[in-house]
Amino acid sequence: MHAIRFRSAIDRRTLLIGGAALAASAPWGHGARAEPAKPRAIELTAGIGRAPLVGSPHPVTEVWCYGNHVPGPELRVRQGEPVRIIVRNELPEETTVHWHGIRLPNAMDGVPGLTQPPIRPGESFTYEFTPPDAGTFWYHPHSNSLRQLGRGMAGALIVEEPTAVPVDRDVLWMLADWRLTSEAEIAGGFGNRMDAAMSGRLGNTVTLNGAISDEVPVRAGERIRLRLVNSSLARLMSLRFEGHRPTIVAIDGQPCEPHQPERDRVLLGPAMRVDLVVDMQGEPGRHYRVIDDFYDGLSYWLTKLVYQDTPPVRARPREAVSLTRNPLPEPDLTGAERYELRLQGGMMGGAGMMGMSGMAHGASWAINGKSVTGDGHAEMPPLLTLRVGRTYVIAIRNDTAWWHPMHLHGYSFRVLSRNGSPVPHRQWADTVLVPPKATAEVAFVADNPGDWMFHCHVTDHQVTGMMAVLRVT
Ligand code: C2O
Ligand code: CU
Repeated sequence: MHAIRFRSAIDRRTLLIGGAALAASAPWGHGARAEPAKPRAIELTAGIGRAPLVGSPHPVTEVWCYGNHVPGPELRVRQGEPVRIIVRNELPEETTVHWHGIRLPNAMDGVPGLTQPPIRPGESFTYEFTPPDAGTFWYHPHSNSLRQLGRGMAGALIVEEPTAVPVDRDVLWMLADWRLTSEAEIAGGFGNRMDAAMSGRLGNTVTLNGAISDEVPVRAGERIRLRLVNSSLARLMSLRFEGHRPTIVAIDGQPCEPHQPERDRVLLGPAMRVDLVVDMQGEPGRHYRVIDDFYDGLSYWLTKLVYQDTPPVRARPREAVSLTRNPLPEPDLTGAERYELRLQGGMMGGAGMMGMSGMAHGASWAINGKSVTGDGHAEMPPLLTLRVGRTYVIAIRNDTAWWHPMHLHGYSFRVLSRNGSPVPHRQWADTVLVPPKATAEVAFVADNPGDWMFHCHVTDHQVTGMMAVLRVT
């Protein structure tokens, strides 16, 4: 179906586009992670850089990025403390930054035309907000998103809890999917009709913190908080940790009831985050693969947990951890107003486009019959107008044959049900993954006024019509 394949470990660097094989000899990672910037005043430069995605001896890849690094710097700020982030644009085109998942004032949301003027080349924009929620968030452009995010512009925004969570290490895995040529260059063809109307631009190379990963060193007995961020344009991931029982403690930055992943797989659509607590209960000296088997017949291993050959750091695992919940307003379901949003369009198993009258030129998708394309612009008419302070229950109904991670800006919502059945943990999320022909019901209190984007985070889908504005007034 897709021109993607990860073969055996030895040649998994093979880039099938162009059919050329690359030898496999790159060391894991590249050592230097950008220093976490100081809170309160952070400078972030968007520009062109070079990154060793595939690793030596293969050429470095020309990327677009933040802070001259892929992924962008891991920004660490404190819950409830104001931050100021000055973004300087050294790209040859306009950009903006969206702070994905942060509940912030509308003017800081980074949607060009809608919430701010785009940042022109050579110019800066200062974002100021006070993150109310601790957790794992991320930032990315909201301008020419397909190319800017697809060329590497993404970074993690970690909002720290006031009191440290009792783990031995706090580890971030920024995951990204790239479509590379055999020369390790980012392939062209962004926005082609096929990608747009089907799965989106899936790549052929998955990186962990900016490089293909062969191993992650761990110690027996240690407890890791593992923050997973899927910054891919389109790739869904379903991660299985051989020999381990990770516990999900937060979803999209929001603490949840600690639970084991369903079918032992951590499902991560584009833009989604999951925080795991993993007790390293493997045997010293052994290694365990982390496998992504979301796409049938296209499973590959993302990395290996490689145990040092030293005795366990502790005899018994630590006490269970659960994170303190964030101050989110609880939806009042009894007085809620209800809406249905229907996701429409796309190719039907190669049989042509779904019949949709009135779909705008260049659009492949729609929500309730309306296609809003691009990344945001002035005077986007709202699809729904919501009243400040009221609770809304929105049923997102996927009438298409494709998966859609649907993201609402400026809010976290509770996921109430899927296909009419209550969801066990009613978790909070800012991005809800809706499988083909499925329905997900979410609820939130419309407490944050403004024009907020609601869109699919498969970027090809977003920019070709699966986007809307919800106005809260
Ligand atoms: Cu991460 Cu408009 O989204
Ligand atoms: Cu989609």
